[in-house]
Amino acid sequence: KTCPLIATFSPLLSQASMTSLEAAKRLAAYQAVNQHIKSGYIVGIGSGSTVIYAVERLAQRVATEKVVVSCVPTSFQARQLLVQNQLTLTDLDVTPNLDVCIDGADEVDSNLDLIKGGGGCLLQEKIVASCARKLIIIADYTKNSSQLGEQYKKGIPIEVAPMAYFPIKTRLEAKYQGQFMLRMAVNKAGPVVTHNGNFILDWTNFDQTLEWKNVNQELALIPGVVETGLFIQMAQEAYFGMPNGSVKVQ
Ligand code: 5RP
Repeated sequence: KTCPLIATFSPLLSQASMTSLEAAKRLAAYQAVNQHIKSGYIVGIGSGSTVIYAVERLAQRVATEKVVVSCVPTSFQARQLLVQNQLTLTDLDVTPNLDVCIDGADEVDSNLDLIKGGGGCLLQEKIVASCARKLIIIADYTKNSSQLGEQYKKGIPIEVAPMAYFPIKTRLEAKYQGQFMLRMAVNKAGPVVTHNGNFILDWTNFDQTLEWKNVNQELALIPGVVETGLFIQMAQEAYFGMPNGSVKVQ
């Protein structure tokens, strides 16, 4: 079972060839790591292409400032990144209380509510974030929106037990506006299987004015729903790399 993110992450680009989007991700990640990581911290490491830059900066700070950190990864990709950068790994059995978790997001609204799980790692990401005193989001400017669904069109991921995907899909389509699409592997040979052996339903074309806290609670009560990509009232701060080279902190 591989996180689909692994296949899609591009290798680190050199500064010269960095697109403005990559530069924006890097700016946000570097500033967040500069501001929020202190020596002695236990740090949750999210998943995605922006987190690559956070790990890069963390490794620089460990090497140059002798900052000491231990990191809890949220995916196979995050674990590989930590190993490649020779950062110290730990897990929730050993260190269940994290000082901070740094993660990307697919969309961040004006209340700092998030859609996450574009890469399929939502369950581990939510568990690790829930163990941290602070969840800090790093993203490029395209993720910054006023309400969920305004910018991000791939939908809200819902991780479900495989045997329940169809009844859940039918039930949700009867209750809510929009479609609940089973996420398929890139080669369409079968459904994406998460790290936890589950499937994902992506909820698209939803009513953007829904009360997400209530919706999230309703979804969580359905037998077979394992977790949702709605991260409500979890993030403390978001860093957005902007096209002009600045960082917007929300
Ligand atoms: C993975 C996630 C990622 O944080 C989210 O998809 C953002 O990724 P990227 O930094 O590549 O835009 O939730 O499950």
